[in-house]
Amino acid sequence: MTESNKTATLTIHGKEYELPVHSPTAGPDVVDIRKLYGQAGVFTYDPGFTSTASCDSTITYIDGDKGELLHRGYPIDQLAAKSHFLEVCYLLLYGELPEAKALETFETTITRHTMLHEQMQYFYRGFRRDAHPMAIMVGVVGAMSAFYHDSTDIADPHQREVASHRLIAKMPTIAAWAYKYHTGQPFVYPRNDLDYASNFLRMCFSVPAEEYEVNPILSRAMDRIFTLHADHEQNASTSTVRLASSSGANPFACVAAGIACLWGPAHGGANQACLEMLEEIGSVDRIPEYINRAKDKDDPFRLMGFGHRVYKNFDPRATVMKQSADEVLDLLGIENNPKLQVAKALEKQALEDPYFTEKKLFPNVDFYSGIILEAMGFPTSMFTPIFALSRTVGWVSQWKEMIADPQNKIGRPRQLYLGETNRDYVDIEKR
Ligand code: ACO
Repeated sequence: MTESNKTATLTIHGKEYELPVHSPTAGPDVVDIRKLYGQAGVFTYDPGFTSTASCDSTITYIDGDKGELLHRGYPIDQLAAKSHFLEVCYLLLYGELPEAKALETFETTITRHTMLHEQMQYFYRGFRRDAHPMAIMVGVVGAMSAFYHDSTDIADPHQREVASHRLIAKMPTIAAWAYKYHTGQPFVYPRNDLDYASNFLRMCFSVPAEEYEVNPILSRAMDRIFTLHADHEQNASTSTVRLASSSGANPFACVAAGIACLWGPAHGGANQACLEMLEEIGSVDRIPEYINRAKDKDDPFRLMGFGHRVYKNFDPRATVMKQSADEVLDLLGIENNPKLQVAKALEKQALEDPYFTEKKLFPNVDFYSGIILEAMGFPTSMFTPIFALSRTVGWVSQWKEMIADPQNKIGRPRQLYLGETNRDYVDIEKR
């Protein structure tokens, strides 16, 4: 970070403190409070990090008011339309769009790391068949550190590189196998003649009993879903990966922590929750009832796939996802999909309601993704694993950036303590 000559003055108990202010290449200025506790003896208070930049980064930029998402400066709609997932992976990891030769080498490297250690199958077999695929993924990805010892030394740049490639390459196999195990079908091995998305579809949907042809339309739609979820700056799961790795933990353990965080319905679990909600609503005439419930302070119900911590305008990924939903359903010959009809009518009615517009609640990426995934044949339980596999490159890129940053130190927030102060232990018979 370059030194800044801008400052902010903070007055605490009548005493003034000068705090450096850093200007980013885009986005709001940042007040640097790193020395505040040492100088003034106070902490800042920001649960949920609503006003706190936790790191500096050059990977992804979001302008929530404009509804803009850039990876290394490139707008997400251009990447979704013109690029493909592995090229976006390269961009996120290395900072630039690759030249043809570099892309070919990268794709070959990823393709050649897609197999899992054969013994990992036994690990899968330890889970109950009815385990949620996310539960399996948290366990299996964490267990990678027990299988790939030669890429856990985070001080070695070569091992970091190998770990990144392994995580991106093996995640489709891990997710597909979690699905296969869950459904009781045999595991399908990856194939090197298929592209990343086609390979994933084949590992999920083929069975040894018959040939499986990957539908190129579905493969393209799958690739676009991966691309749209690839990274999203310091979201909850990425911050979890960064915090876990700040202690020096190995990358597989850190990404397993990211998967655990992503699972929650306020984050990656929202696509499953959203489809379940659309199913529950069932028909357009029931939408007002659900909108009223979402507005009712005494009802915990929220419109799933609506609202975002950062976007206070349309989530640009939702716009692409909505188009994609139309295209995929059209190409699959699915007419009048009731969930898509409910989703579109719900979006329209919510955006006509002052509750949602005043609070700047718009559809997010999860609002339409479930409809596409369901049309492709995935059960709802696979929606969040697919998000996890797509986001792996984001976690890995942010992790690599953090480890290479000389300012990197263990993440250790403080607190506003509101509990009892020092008191004497009371013997049990006197309580
Ligand atoms: N439905 C109804 N009201 C909502 C919704 C919603 N989906 N989202 C937010 N609100 C309301 C809140 O009740 C709150 O109202 P208040 O100010 O009167 O108390 C206000 O909008 C602000 O909401 P917060 O929860 O404070 O906003 P926050 O930034 O913490 O939450 C979140 C963002 C978690 C995404 C929230 O909008 C939500 O729960 N959405 C539904 C779940 C979802 O779709 N998550 C996916 C996020 S995108 C992703 O992870 C890929």
